[in-house]
Amino acid sequence: SSLNRCFNINDLKKKAKRKLPATMYHYMAGGADDEWSLRRNSSAFDDYQLMPNQLNDVSKVNISTKVLGCDLKMPFFLAPTGMSRLFHHDKEFAVAKAAEKMGTLYSLSTMATTSIEDIGSTIDSDKMFQIYIFKNRELTKEYVKRAKSAGYKALCLTVDTAIAGNRERDHYYGMGIPPKLTMKSMLSYMTHWQWAFNLLRNSDFKLANISHWDTSLSKGTMGLIQYVNSQFDASVTWDDVAWLCEQWDGPFVLKGSQSVLDAKKAVEVGCSAMMVSNHGGRQLDFAPAPIDCIAPIRDAIGDSLELIVDGGIRRGSDVVKALALGANACSIGRPYLYGLAAGGQKGVEKTINILSSEIERTMALLGCKSVDEINSEHLIINNHIK
Ligand code: FNR
Repeated sequence: SSLNRCFNINDLKKKAKRKLPATMYHYMAGGADDEWSLRRNSSAFDDYQLMPNQLNDVSKVNISTKVLGCDLKMPFFLAPTGMSRLFHHDKEFAVAKAAEKMGTLYSLSTMATTSIEDIGSTIDSDKMFQIYIFKNRELTKEYVKRAKSAGYKALCLTVDTAIAGNRERDHYYGMGIPPKLTMKSMLSYMTHWQWAFNLLRNSDFKLANISHWDTSLSKGTMGLIQYVNSQFDASVTWDDVAWLCEQWDGPFVLKGSQSVLDAKKAVEVGCSAMMVSNHGGRQLDFAPAPIDCIAPIRDAIGDSLELIVDGGIRRGSDVVKALALGANACSIGRPYLYGLAAGGQKGVEKTINILSSEIERTMALLGCKSVDEINSEHLIINNHIK
């Protein structure tokens, strides 16, 4: 298939752009406000170079690791993203099955188009559920119970979405639930007739975990923003995080913090890991790149939290740099969504494959045969060669 002509993540991005109506593509690829954080998330990796140590035996390189109590065949996993049905008719099933087949962790979002239970019974491998704290705490508790009984290993609380971010591409391209039909978007659906045909043939779009979704809210383009602002609790504090931690007896991940202060608090309230993230540049614009936040956090908290770099990872070398700075692993969002849009489950497998082989090759050329051999000695920061 033409996935064979995709050699890197950018090739998959281009393919996804060709396959998707503009509304869906820009919802996926875009960020908040001026998209400074979106750009910086990736470009910040350019401030780090890699210094190889030669003449180590790298005839066998092992890129596997353990994080969040899960054995991963590669040092990255799939971050939670909402509404996979927008990008492919096999929706979250395609992504979860690819994760299971390739040997990494799948995270299901509260805003998914497949239910907690359906994913639970589809894959046997480790999975994580991503939750928000709703104003209705009983509902929040119910999600925790459902995730536990469906066999999810880890729980992830996203804390960077007190209110919805300002994604202007969503206005320009008519994103909403349902998408707004304008002359421009109609034209784009017509020229992407295969996508539109699949939606009509199997119009199973629904936010499967949100039974309390008020359809009157979903009218008009900004239904989702109204929903977030009306249901998510913007008054959440560390006491609520402590409360949620207590409800969950497995790995508990705080997602969307970037400061040393937050990391120290996360340790205090009992979190086991932190996904250092700015939501892929979709929430607070001018939030720093996650890669730049890792070293100070690691310095401040030692080994008391596992740290995940989340945002802007597009090459295996990005993952290696994150590990050298003190991260335990990385997670990816858009890279696997590009794969999903480009080719369903096979496309997601392609994403995982590309990044894995890039990591393996980078490690061999760097002189590291396992992930624990990657350390700050291999890094050059801001051109300063030690
Ligand atoms: C996201 N992300 C996200 N995060 C979360 O906690 N819950 C969610 O429902 C979503 N939904 C979502 C949708 C889409 C289309 C994108 C692109 C992202 C953020 C995601 O988990 C992750 O933090 C970023 O995607 C990481 O940045 P990269 O890898 O996309 O650069």
